[in-house]
Amino acid sequence: MKILIIGNGGREHALAWKVSQSPQVEGVFVAKGNAGISSIATQVEIEPTDIPALVAFAQERAIDLTIVGPEEPLCLGVVDAFEAAGLVIFGPNRHCAQFEGSKDFTKQFLVRHQIPTATYETVTSYEEGIRVTESLSLPIVLKADGLALGKGVVIAQTREEVKETLDSMMNHHQFGAAGHQVVIEEYLTGEEISLLCLVSHNKLFPLDMAHDYKKAEEGDQGLNTGGLGGYSPANSLATDLHQGIQTLLAQIEYGLESEGFDFTGVLFVGLMVDHHQPKVLEFNVRFGDPETQVLLPRLESDLVELIQKAVANNLNEHDLQWSPQHSVGVVLHSKGYPQTFDKNHPIELPPSIASDQLLFHNGTKKIEDTIVNIGGRVLTAVGLGSSRAMARERAYELVKQIKSSNLSYRQDIGQ
Ligand code: AMP
Ligand code: GLY
Repeated sequence: MKILIIGNGGREHALAWKVSQSPQVEGVFVAKGNAGISSIATQVEIEPTDIPALVAFAQERAIDLTIVGPEEPLCLGVVDAFEAAGLVIFGPNRHCAQFEGSKDFTKQFLVRHQIPTATYETVTSYEEGIRVTESLSLPIVLKADGLALGKGVVIAQTREEVKETLDSMMNHHQFGAAGHQVVIEEYLTGEEISLLCLVSHNKLFPLDMAHDYKKAEEGDQGLNTGGLGGYSPANSLATDLHQGIQTLLAQIEYGLESEGFDFTGVLFVGLMVDHHQPKVLEFNVRFGDPETQVLLPRLESDLVELIQKAVANNLNEHDLQWSPQHSVGVVLHSKGYPQTFDKNHPIELPPSIASDQLLFHNGTKKIEDTIVNIGGRVLTAVGLGSSRAMARERAYELVKQIKSSNLSYRQDIGQ
């Protein structure tokens, strides 16, 4: 089989690493990949959003299965285009991708099906935003409705910040059309869990849980990022929480089916858990980054087989087998991220990596023989072990072997 993976980051590196272990696979292509991916797969110089070029490439090379990493091509309809050309692709179609493309779309779905989530109101002008927020207590969560590269959520601590955020999103078009509608939400507290599910024609098959570290600074302080580290499995679940999650997933399945969706791909359910009660924070319609880097090393099943079964509608929950090992992933990021940062600083990588460690590349590029940073998140160092503490130790040992003057990382991942 020949596989094409669409995307550039650590998630796609982990996907390429995992699918290349499948005995069925004879070639892996990644559009457009990064410096790490190039050692295990063929890099293809096509942008992940250039859908006509991706379709033409898949046809020319007779690609048997395409896997989509990021949300942008999904929201642009890459799945619809591949299917119209008779090509097999794993991801939700454009209609289903609205669950990530519009936060208001998801909130309406959650409310229609009585799925627990923060109370909200969607506004379409600055004035309406001010009026709605006046009666709410702080902090107030403000979300640009559309795609904003993971930067569209602001947790405003003061009235001034509420005003500034609404003003920059709605009057100054900080996120373009993505901010013309703003979802205003109740602030939730608790523990965040990333629950990724393989979805086969509206049926959800949850992967093991993962925990992601969203904030830029230690102790979960500072700005929101795409995710600076993670671990899996997440803390063991109390029975009532387990039941709460099962109920919630059944409600989502019922909602998808009864409303005539045909969702196949990945549904990433972001949960906030407080006193064992889960509430949905968001849906994403793709694998998470860095969740994928800590989940796939623990997946014993053949991912290609799982995806083929999901597409063919014969996936069974027993098909998913997990290693009892723990994994911890630490993201090394460019100094300054999630705000502005410098690119093209050289990075020195260790000459070899132990069997209980993995190094996935996010934003890297090879210039002649030198690897340099070109993204905010640059590398994910993963450690494996029989406990989270051991996995954490292995991950940080790998981190310390990476030399660059322009990289930084959180010290408290997996603690
Ligand atoms: P989202 O893209 O909607 O998941 O939001 C990004 C991050 O903002 C989440 O992972 C949470 O850490 C935080 N967040 C989003 N919504 C809320 C909320 N209602 N209450 C508290 N934190 C939130
Ligand atoms: N790590 C969160 C995400 O992938 O959206």
